[in-house]
Amino acid sequence: MIEILNLKKKFNNNLVLNDLSLKVETGQTCVIIGRSGCGKSVLLKHIDGLLRPDSGKVLVDGKEVAGLSELELTKLRSKISMVFQGGALFDSMNVAENVGFGLFEHTQIDHKEILQRVDESLSLVGLGGIDNLMPSELSGGMRKRVSLARAICIKPEILLYDEPTTGLDPITAASINELIRSLHDKLNVTSFVVTHDMTSAYHIADKIAMMYKGRIVLEGTPEEIQNTKDPVVHQFINGLAKGPITEAVDTFK
Ligand SMILES: Nc1ncnc2c1ncn2[C@@H]1O[C@H](COP(=O)(O)OP(=O)(O)OP(=O)(O)O)[C@@H](O)[C@H]1O
Ligand SMILES: [Mg+2]
Repeated sequence: MIEILNLKKKFNNNLVLNDLSLKVETGQTCVIIGRSGCGKSVLLKHIDGLLRPDSGKVLVDGKEVAGLSELELTKLRSKISMVFQGGALFDSMNVAENVGFGLFEHTQIDHKEILQRVDESLSLVGLGGIDNLMPSELSGGMRKRVSLARAICIKPEILLYDEPTTGLDPITAASINELIRSLHDKLNVTSFVVTHDMTSAYHIADKIAMMYKGRIVLEGTPEEIQNTKDPVVHQFINGLAKGPITEAVDTFK
């Protein structure tokens, strides 16, 4: 289980997370929605310890992430994978080295077996046979899928997806949604998915949580969110220009 308790994070004068709390049970898929710049990526980075909160805490299976030693953090990262918004591939490594990175670096698994896992992961994202290409030779959508293959290659228990389908064509996006669902159904993976794609959110979520002004304004099942009377959430999910949200960006100022 992942528990986020009263998280606060400020960058200079920019208060991004303001007492944010959220709980996700093991095996659940929680979709995070919210406007651009509201802090969704910042929230995900607190879950795998890339950022530390000013106050509040993130507990993964009862252990506080910010309190972990380097060794414990490495151990945690062997079960948490993040699919980064921009892909975050290593440009000097080919696709196979990128996808197998976590296993090559942090495990004693045999080289041949890792390459087999790399091939399996690439097939799962529909990119079999591109092992030797360099990141610069990939399209934006391919980079995104290679990043997803890298995340699933370590067989994680927790997956953090930062806009996994943004920029993909609708058919590829649908197949990535199917993949997210099946990882959840078959392997009981706990997932956080940040997305702006509401169709995908309704399809994959057990729970949807909306961020606004540094906190979760509403969380509920896809059905509850679709039928909400909350004016902020209603405006957002229906993409309405008129409503309580009037600022150009989500901000406290
Ligand atoms: N490392 C950092 N240092 C300073 N400010 C940061 C840092 N990371 C994020 N921010 C700020 O935190 C705020 C939230 O950023 P974040 O990337 O979490 O937005 P987001 O909700 O993921 O937006 P988008 O939907 O556009 O990806 C922004 O104002 C951003 O400038
Ligand atoms: Mg983001």
